[in-house]
Amino acid sequence: MKILLVTAHPRADSLTLAAAKAFAEAAKANGHEIEIADLTAEGFDPVLREPDEPDWSDSKKIYSAAVRAEMARIERNDATVMIFPVWWWSMPALLKGWIDRVWNNGWAYGDRKYPHSRAWMLAIAGSSAEAYAKRGYDDAMRTQLEVGILGYCGIAETRLEILFDAIEGPPGPENILVAARRLGSEF
Ligand SMILES: Cc1cc2nc3c(=O)[nH]c(=O)nc-3n(C[C@H](O)[C@H](O)[C@H](O)COP(=O)(O)O)c2cc1C
Repeated sequence: MKILLVTAHPRADSLTLAAAKAFAEAAKANGHEIEIADLTAEGFDPVLREPDEPDWSDSKKIYSAAVRAEMARIERNDATVMIFPVWWWSMPALLKGWIDRVWNNGWAYGDRKYPHSRAWMLAIAGSSAEAYAKRGYDDAMRTQLEVGILGYCGIAETRLEILFDAIEGPPGPENILVAARRLGSEF
């Protein structure tokens, strides 16, 4: 499969980008091709302006050139994997804005469904699984991100993996890289 691997992190030596690299290497070893969409490095503008606002009376609205380029990048791949840090129990605004603008009415939902039947999210979490479970952040993220975005857009094979303990380990960062590699080889 051709996988579009979407990341958003401000620091090149982040654990998030190391996890993305580990996932990509394992997926490639498993026969997949990887195209990286590093939204930070590319300077993607996450603000949804009028040209990209859905028109509920026109599902065939032509969106901005920047959004059409992103749609084409998705369409030349077969699957999507988003690897991102958990910020405020969700994804970074940059990645959320990519979805706001690109996963648009008439293309990802409405008259049509998202072009891929498989999309995964790997969320790198600073805190522990226990801290998430205590307040239900894990369930909240699953409802919002996996059901509310991936499921809403008609994607059949969805997965949200929260990789815990990036900061508060043990077991810590090495465990996250091991998990990212395992997920790449399972894809
Ligand atoms: C703005 C901001 C918000 C964050 N919010 C959370 C959070 O809600 N839950 C959490 O587990 N970690 C949170 N973190 C920690 C990141 O998830 C952590 O930086 C990341 O998992 C791993 O490291 P990396 O930044 O080197 O990739 C936050 C970090 C930042 C910068």
